[in-house]
Amino acid sequence: MAKRKITVVGAGNVGATTAQRLVEKEMGDVVLVDIVQDMPQGKALDILESAPVYGYDSKITGANGYEETRNSDIVIVTSGVARKPGMSRDDLLKINAGIVKGVVENVAKTSPNAILIIVSNPLDAMTYIAHKISRFPKHRVIGMAGVLDAARFSTFIAMELDVSVENIHAFVLGGHGDTMVPSTRYTTVAGVSVEELIPRARLDAIVKRTRDGGAEIVNLLKTGSAFYAPSAAVVEMVEAIVKDKKKIVPCAVLCDGEYGINGLFVGVPVKLGEKGVEQVFEIKLNSEESAALRRSAEAVKILCEHVDKLL
Ligand code: NAI
Ligand code: 2OP
Repeated sequence: MAKRKITVVGAGNVGATTAQRLVEKEMGDVVLVDIVQDMPQGKALDILESAPVYGYDSKITGANGYEETRNSDIVIVTSGVARKPGMSRDDLLKINAGIVKGVVENVAKTSPNAILIIVSNPLDAMTYIAHKISRFPKHRVIGMAGVLDAARFSTFIAMELDVSVENIHAFVLGGHGDTMVPSTRYTTVAGVSVEELIPRARLDAIVKRTRDGGAEIVNLLKTGSAFYAPSAAVVEMVEAIVKDKKKIVPCAVLCDGEYGINGLFVGVPVKLGEKGVEQVFEIKLNSEESAALRRSAEAVKILCEHVDKLL
C-alpha cells in the first residue's frame, strides 16, 4: 500500500503531539504546518531525529505554506487559539473562525481530495466552517471530539471500578461542549451496562466530570488546554481511515435528518474507513436522551448562526 501523506496544520501542543504519534505509528509521511517561521521545521526535524531511536520510517517535514502539503490524503486542522482558565470554548469562536476559514481555503486548493479532520474549537462550529468553505462532500469533513470525550468517560469509569480501560466501551453523543450527552445506558463494562455496576449518584458525578473534562485540564495546566488525549483521539481516527478499519467511533459529522438534526455537525456514532465517514448509525434513544441531544444540537445551532454572520 502506498504511503499516505498526512498534513497537520498548527504545530502547537495538539498539532505537534499528533504529528509525533502519527509517525511513531507509521501512519504515513507527515507535513507539519504553522504560521510561526521555522518552528514547524524545528519540531519536525526534532521528531525525525527520534526515528532511529524509536525505529520508524515515516518521514516528517515542517512548512509555513501549503505547497509542501499538496495532494495530502488526510489534513488535520489544529490551528487556532486554545482556552485559558475562565474561557469557554465558545469564547474562541471569533478568533478561530477566521483562522480555520483561511486554512481550509488553502487546503481545499492544494489537497482537493483530502479527508479533513477538524480539531480547533469550538469544534462543532469549526467543522461546520470547514465544510462550508471547502465544499467537500460531507463524508470527507469530520470533527474530532467524541473519541476524546468517550476516552475521558472510559478513564473515569475504569478508575471507579478499578478495571482495565480496555473493558470499557463508552458512548457519548452531541456537541463538544457543556451540553455533550454521555450515555450511561449504552456504556458498557465487559458487555454489562455501567448502570448495573455503578450507583446512580456516582455515575452522575462521572458524567459531570466527563462534561467538564476539558476545563479540568485547563485549570490544572493554566497556560493551555489538553493535548495528550486529544492527539491520541485524532490518531485513532486516522488509523481507522488509513487501515480502512470500518471502526465505529463518535465523531462530529453533518447530520442530514439523522436524530431529527438537519444541517449541523453534531457528535454521533459513525463508521470510519478509507472513504472517511462511511455510515452514520442512528440508534434508539429514550425520551431523556433525545431531549438532551436536541438541547446539544440547539447550542451548536446558535454558534453556527454566529458563524454565518461572521463569514
Ligand atoms: P496551541 O496554541 O498550542 O497551538 C495552536 C497553533 O496554531 C500555534 O502554534 C499557532 O501558531 C498555530 N496557528 C495559529 N494560526 C494559524 C494559521 N492561520 N495557520 C497555521 N497555524 C496557525 O493550541 P493547541 O493546544 O494545540 O490547541 C489547538 C486548538 O485545538 C485550539 O482551538 C483548542 O481549543 C483545540 N482543541 C480541541 C480539542 C477537541 O476535542 N476538539 C481538544 C484539544 C484542543
Ligand atoms: C478539551 O476538551 C480543549 O476542547 C478541548 O480538552
